[in-house]
Amino acid sequence: MSERIDLAALPHDFLWGTATAAYQIEGAVAEDGRAPSIWDTFSHTPGKIAGDDHGDVACDHYHRWREDIALMRRLGTNAYRLSIAWPRVFPGGDGPLNQKGIDFYDRLVDGLLEAGITPSVTLYHWDLPQALQDRGGWPERATALAFADYASAVAERLGDRVRLWATLNEPSCSAWIGHLEGKMAPGLTDLTAAVRASYHLLLGHGLATQAIRAAAPAAQVGIVNNLSTVHPATDRPEDVAAARRHDGHVNRWWLDPVHGRGFPADMREVYGVELPEQEGDLATIAAPLDWLGLNYYFPAYVADDPSGPAPYVFSVRREGVRRTGMDWEIDADGIETLLLRLTDDYGARKIYITENGSAYPDVVRPDGTVDDPERQEYLVNHLAACAAAARKGAPLAGYFAWSLLDNFEWAYGYDKRFGLVHVDYRTQVRTIKGSGHRYADIVRSHRGRTRKAA
Ligand code: IFM
Repeated sequence: MSERIDLAALPHDFLWGTATAAYQIEGAVAEDGRAPSIWDTFSHTPGKIAGDDHGDVACDHYHRWREDIALMRRLGTNAYRLSIAWPRVFPGGDGPLNQKGIDFYDRLVDGLLEAGITPSVTLYHWDLPQALQDRGGWPERATALAFADYASAVAERLGDRVRLWATLNEPSCSAWIGHLEGKMAPGLTDLTAAVRASYHLLLGHGLATQAIRAAAPAAQVGIVNNLSTVHPATDRPEDVAAARRHDGHVNRWWLDPVHGRGFPADMREVYGVELPEQEGDLATIAAPLDWLGLNYYFPAYVADDPSGPAPYVFSVRREGVRRTGMDWEIDADGIETLLLRLTDDYGARKIYITENGSAYPDVVRPDGTVDDPERQEYLVNHLAACAAAARKGAPLAGYFAWSLLDNFEWAYGYDKRFGLVHVDYRTQVRTIKGSGHRYADIVRSHRGRTRKAA
């Protein structure tokens, strides 16, 4: 099956990685001076998370990070995407830095480098310090300014060893799911707050980009967006127009401003919310980037629904197609299409697949193995589509599988397992799944071919 991947299309210095995020794996939420984030608050609000799960312990990575680096080595990966918990470093959001908090990441980065693994650091993977939320959160400009200060402090401390920096992970989830749909922290359902949050997230991204570069001149800075291919459900003009709006909502709103095109005019009209714009903001947001991060999971099929909750958020559930355990439709071609769109329409100079993966209800068999043929097929098919895009000219420089470990899947709790490594949450025993072994084979084949060519 892996032979389907055109490995020769991938550069010799390709980064083969796995990805995680702080709140999903670390646990130790009250240790060494960490203060609560909006996700601690949200997950401890009854009824918000399946099974009333929370990240208090998660994968206990805060204590088991050495074991987890050893797992990365067993997978043969040469890169790892982690996120920093802002409330560990600045428990109050701003104000005094918590030395013990940053020390954890300092040790982790050293441990990765010693193991020959390139760290890629994401500064914001949704865990806003609760103290900043109490002052208004992302709908307020002050949060963007605080984010830049936090970015500067972390880059100053780690920038001598970390080259790859991402400002935000999936800002569309923070803004739309967190402030409009209410299904993620901070759990608001307010269009004005959501649009203002989206604006300040992107402003924070631009300010943080400048701050990282000032603190760490060798830094390579990017932003991570989750994008979908968007298809009209039929050829009806209403569905085509609805698909265009949905594309504006999930893709263009996030890509256009950072590429100097401003916020899409059609979507500004659809939202009808005044942007909190100040002179110079658009130029800040469009600070040139070294790379783009693409998180890809599923396509969207859209039909117009005049009676729906909003003119941009609907998609249609298609029958008779294959789905993952998240009920997300599987379409590997979508990753190729999006890589080529970033290349051709947005002129990307370097792209990383910063996340891609699938959840299934895995179990450890009596013989101690975890067999996950569906995830293996998903992995191989998506890697084949990535290589196809690279062959057609997409400047793809790395692939980070989501995720290294099974972990806290936000509102879905621990039920949805995305890991290449199974975690028994009772014992914290880790078991490499079939897909992890498959990934290791693929990495090894690419390395073998690169060595031969050298
Ligand atoms: O687990 C999440 C991750 O935190 C962000 N991207 C999507 C993943 C799967 O839902």
